[in-house]
Amino acid sequence: MSKRFYITTAIDYVNGQPHLGHAYEKIIADVIARARRSLGQEVFFLTGLDEHGQKVQQAAQAEKKNPQEYCDALAADWQAFAKKLELTNDDFVRTTQPRHKEFVQATLAKLHAAGQFYKAGYTGFYSAKEETFLTEKDRLPDGTFDASYGEVVELKEDNYYFKLGAHQQWLIDTIEANPDFIAPSYRRNEVLGFLKNNKLEDLCISRPAARLNWGIPLPFDPEFVTYVWFDALVNYASIADAHAALGLWPADIHVIGKDIVKFHAVYWPIMLKAMGLPLPKQILVHGWWQKDGAKISKSTGNVVDPIAVINEWGLDAFRFYVLRELDIGPDGNWTDTGFRSRYQAELANGLGNLVNRSLSMLKRYRNGVVPARSNELAADAAKAADETRALFKQSQLQAALQSIWGLVNRANKYVDETAPFKLAKDPAQAQRLDEVLYNLAESCRVLAVLLNPFLPGTAAKIYAQLGLAGAPDKLADATWGGLQPGHQTGEPAPLFPRKDEPKP
Ligand code: ME8
Ligand code: MG
Repeated sequence: MSKRFYITTAIDYVNGQPHLGHAYEKIIADVIARARRSLGQEVFFLTGLDEHGQKVQQAAQAEKKNPQEYCDALAADWQAFAKKLELTNDDFVRTTQPRHKEFVQATLAKLHAAGQFYKAGYTGFYSAKEETFLTEKDRLPDGTFDASYGEVVELKEDNYYFKLGAHQQWLIDTIEANPDFIAPSYRRNEVLGFLKNNKLEDLCISRPAARLNWGIPLPFDPEFVTYVWFDALVNYASIADAHAALGLWPADIHVIGKDIVKFHAVYWPIMLKAMGLPLPKQILVHGWWQKDGAKISKSTGNVVDPIAVINEWGLDAFRFYVLRELDIGPDGNWTDTGFRSRYQAELANGLGNLVNRSLSMLKRYRNGVVPARSNELAADAAKAADETRALFKQSQLQAALQSIWGLVNRANKYVDETAPFKLAKDPAQAQRLDEVLYNLAESCRVLAVLLNPFLPGTAAKIYAQLGLAGAPDKLADATWGGLQPGHQTGEPAPLFPRKDEPKP
């Protein structure tokens, strides 16, 4: 039996509300997880929350709350959000859980015993907003730090350090020997460029508890808590360990955003090497969304509220738009006009219209009974299925949607070319009409199977309207000829109602 496919997302900072960027990343991971299951693989999909650190402590203090209660209240919102997106995650990690904290402490104790840490005075700068250490080198030409770091304070204190520097050449060699380790390749090149042109500084892995106590105490020195990034990265391994019987490690894919590549592609591999664990197969880096060409920002009100969009347009429309609009890698731009036009053209007039007219005509002309098999669109369906299968294995989600829409468009064109409403008027054309109706209904069935990872609700509706039992969740079922002659289909109903009509 092949190893379970283990996929993770970044764990979001618990303070604040989920936004478009968070939703996008979790949907990417969910679609890959569903696609792998559809390919017949066993999958473990992990997402969750990053709950320690200065930024959370400060946010709790500002609300005069105990940090754990503060996290518990917000964690409920984030978990509801995961449900709203219909994520098929197998676990949800919170870094304040004992199972995680114990694993972090055991890891720290082991690395300390192995001589990986040393204590020294630290003088430098810290951004609580990004929970990151900065040096003089991070200053902009005008002497300030980038605004994205928020307030940057100078620190002078004793701390523990992890000997990163010693592993620099090993990491370069490893990345060069594993071309798929960091994807897309331009992110890999950035990391290699960074490693080849800079000397890696050792990583400060502690904060004095006197100043910051919202963290995991170092097991070998109670005066300190663990630096939040050391704590957070370990979630991928602590939860794998919590399900040790499944043999999850190494992870197959860590899905993350472009701002946290250094943590995942530099610190994490070196931590794993020191821990004696193999490296993940791939760090898959997505870009950032803007709205209307400007940074998404709560303070300026330039935001997309995923929950509001889902409530108005449906979850599948939202899942479709973010993956169809933006490939995994570059930055994207959300516009309400772009969203509406894809909804109208590709979902309502494309997929929705195809399914609705195919099943309505089958019902009107043949009482919904599937006619004899015909193979006119079989090659088009096979092409979409083969491409989708190959693209799923490479996590090429946008390209898979393009390929699937090749079949949607082909089938819609086929309706126009064959004009079944005309055939229906001529009794001499009864056999031709049967052929057309079979090709259309069977194309809809294949589309449900191919689309299921992206649009699970819609795929289930197509199956139900076809009168099929079970779920369209096996890619092997995308083979032409699944619909049996004589099969009774169900009730057609619009999949993507026009927005000027009231919703059913
Ligand atoms: O960085 N577009 O958490 P976070 C796309 N806790 N993705 C975006 C985005 C945008 N506008 N804004 C944020 C953290 N993201 C750490 C991670 S992992 C061990 C610890 C993405 O809540 C961002 O790139 O700031 C990251 O992958 C994720 O959302 C969580 O960001
Ligand atoms: Mg962030």
